[in-house]
Amino acid sequence: MSRADAKARLAELAARLADANAAYHRNDAPEISDADYDALKRENAALEAAFPDLKRADSPSDQVGAPPAEGFSKISHAQRMLSLGNAFDAGDVAEFVSFIRRYLGLDADAPLAFTAEPKIDGLSLSLRYEAGVLVQAATRGDGAVGENVTANAHTIADIPERLTGAPDVLEVRGEVYMSHADFAALNSRQADAGEKTFANPRNAAAGSLRQLDAGITRARPLRFFAYAWGELSAPLAETQSGAIARLAALGFQTNDLTRRCENTEALLAQYAMIEQARATLGYDIDGVVYKLDDLALQARLGLRSTTPRWAIAHKFPAELAWTRLEKIEIQVGRTGALSPVARLTPVTVGGVVVSNATLHNEDYIAGRDSKGNLIRDGKDIREGDFVQVYRAGDVIPKLADVDLSKRPEGAVLYVFPTTCPDCGSDALREEGDAVRRCTGGLICPAQAVEKLKHFVSRAAFDIEGLGAKQVEQFHKDGWIAEPADIFELEARYGTGLQQLKNREGWGETSAGNLFAAINDKRHIPMARVIFALGIRHVGEVAAADLARHYVNWEGFLAAVDAAGPAADRHRAAEDAVAAERQRAAEEERRPNLAAARNAVWEGLDPAALTAWEDLVGIDGIGATVALSLVTTFQQKRERASIRRLASHLSVEDMTPRAASDSPVAGKTVVFTGTLEKMTRAEAKARAEGLGAKVAGSVSAKTDILVAGPGAGSKAKKAADLGVKTLDEDAWLALIGGAPSGAGDG
Ligand code: IVH
Repeated sequence: MSRADAKARLAELAARLADANAAYHRNDAPEISDADYDALKRENAALEAAFPDLKRADSPSDQVGAPPAEGFSKISHAQRMLSLGNAFDAGDVAEFVSFIRRYLGLDADAPLAFTAEPKIDGLSLSLRYEAGVLVQAATRGDGAVGENVTANAHTIADIPERLTGAPDVLEVRGEVYMSHADFAALNSRQADAGEKTFANPRNAAAGSLRQLDAGITRARPLRFFAYAWGELSAPLAETQSGAIARLAALGFQTNDLTRRCENTEALLAQYAMIEQARATLGYDIDGVVYKLDDLALQARLGLRSTTPRWAIAHKFPAELAWTRLEKIEIQVGRTGALSPVARLTPVTVGGVVVSNATLHNEDYIAGRDSKGNLIRDGKDIREGDFVQVYRAGDVIPKLADVDLSKRPEGAVLYVFPTTCPDCGSDALREEGDAVRRCTGGLICPAQAVEKLKHFVSRAAFDIEGLGAKQVEQFHKDGWIAEPADIFELEARYGTGLQQLKNREGWGETSAGNLFAAINDKRHIPMARVIFALGIRHVGEVAAADLARHYVNWEGFLAAVDAAGPAADRHRAAEDAVAAERQRAAEEERRPNLAAARNAVWEGLDPAALTAWEDLVGIDGIGATVALSLVTTFQQKRERASIRRLASHLSVEDMTPRAASDSPVAGKTVVFTGTLEKMTRAEAKARAEGLGAKVAGSVSAKTDILVAGPGAGSKAKKAADLGVKTLDEDAWLALIGGAPSGAGDG
């Protein structure tokens, strides 16, 4: 065979094997037989042996299966796997403890115990035992859905195959990690074999667990610490410390630096102890985790969207390094924010090579915080400066300091741009906003592409095979300009002159897979659609609040439209109030803000007012979110873009969070006055947990007003409107008393 023929055939083999891999691993639907697959692989290896210099960078011989994330089957967690909020200093820890006291309504001297234990720097794993037998192991994934790594878990010595005396269903959660000694030995074996080495033990543990070939996992020395649990058929104990002791008795490794602590001082003392021990532990830890000990109290505190209220991670201080700031670049985000980024001479910080760091905003570069106070003693940051970089956890690296003694001669003060570097539109800073924003909206290519990336991201449309990279390329080539275009890709590029399957990096199978993945998302939950729109201030939680409140898409659109005129008044009223303040100051009199505000609202269509009050009354929404939402829908282009998108979708109504047999599911509840058996925050979380909507103000839509002592105007308004009013005891009787039982560990 000629060189040219060999080269062409190698390219063909690479493409065919990649397609076959994708079909097999991603879709669990092999397109060619194992024997044919092996034959192609052998042919490829033979050609590479004959023409070693033609071996491709993406050679199929270097690939073990498909990328793991696509190769594993998915498992939905019976109970979400959580992450943890962070504390960085003693003040944050004290606030965590006092937050819990406030939430539970406990006095400062009521006893309250916590556990403190090392935060292991590995990856979390959930093990499911049924009738004492290990039946399933799943990684955390996005918390709701993880990867099925059962075969791999079976190879880990610390993970028992069978348990005696365990609840019938028991999900044990903990961290898979690798010791320093095993990590060093593994890396030297890898280097000897000419294979890739790992940057740190965490990456080595993750890379080893997420192997499609469990034989490879078996050869890697992984360990496991148990520290939490998911679904249980019977409680493990009444306390966190009791539950951990129970897991140890069942045969799991638990961390022997775990202590029970009765106050903030004891937590901080245990933190100091663990920090001291850190260097000699023989495995990586990145902080200390505090958990409320009493499981009934854990249940009362419950969860935020991704983190429990009853636990927190106290992180060790960040690691630091000095390097040169080569250049300051501006990135334009989804909402038009101009974010300055530091391009650095690469430097290793805590085992990771860092070449970019955030510079936050123009004030930060100038040496001021958002209130105008000096930071870094007022030292500004310039291109060419020597800067100190730090990393804390997984967050984007930041700059801690500038060394003025090393500032190059002639370094000039950095001037922040006042126009968008991508579309040239004016970039403006609103009063009170630290961020300068491009005013280009949809005409700004940078904003458009960031919006598209957000649209396909995991918590939004989550389209398999359409990630940030593909979105950038399609956008650059004019294939997609706005979300609706994604749903027209197949019609435009599935057949005809320009076809997706003929693009570089694509083939028949991968193109077909992408179209299928897109079609799969035409039917989609309402909260995801709202979040995916990428409206400023409308995050995942607000999107879910809105969906829960309006229940269906058309109702939501109608409500937002109806509120439009009121939003205009709201803005005008803010201006009027500011003007009145100024005038009053000049005239040296007291301002009459209420009058200024009310004058603006006069004469507004009552339907608009009702729609607006209903919107801002949604608990967790408020005027900022409402304004941003309504303003977005008022813009012609945005509206058209959203309508066009919706025409491709069948948006799923939001079903109430809890079983619809809950007596308050779907009801709108308002709390007022003093509650004596629980705090306001707890009452709200419980009501929502039962499928109710909690609103901040009484309106015709209110179903129940729960009024404690001292209820004022809201009780009167409820009476006027004929809204059912309950006292706290009647409310508790209605929903079945206080919560009980163990929570998710
Ligand atoms: S408890 C209830 N305890 O840290 C929340 N997590 O940042 C479940 N982690 O996803 C986590 N050591 O992977 C808990 N002793 C420990 C931990 C720990 C490490 C990890 C875990 C979690 C992440 C959150």
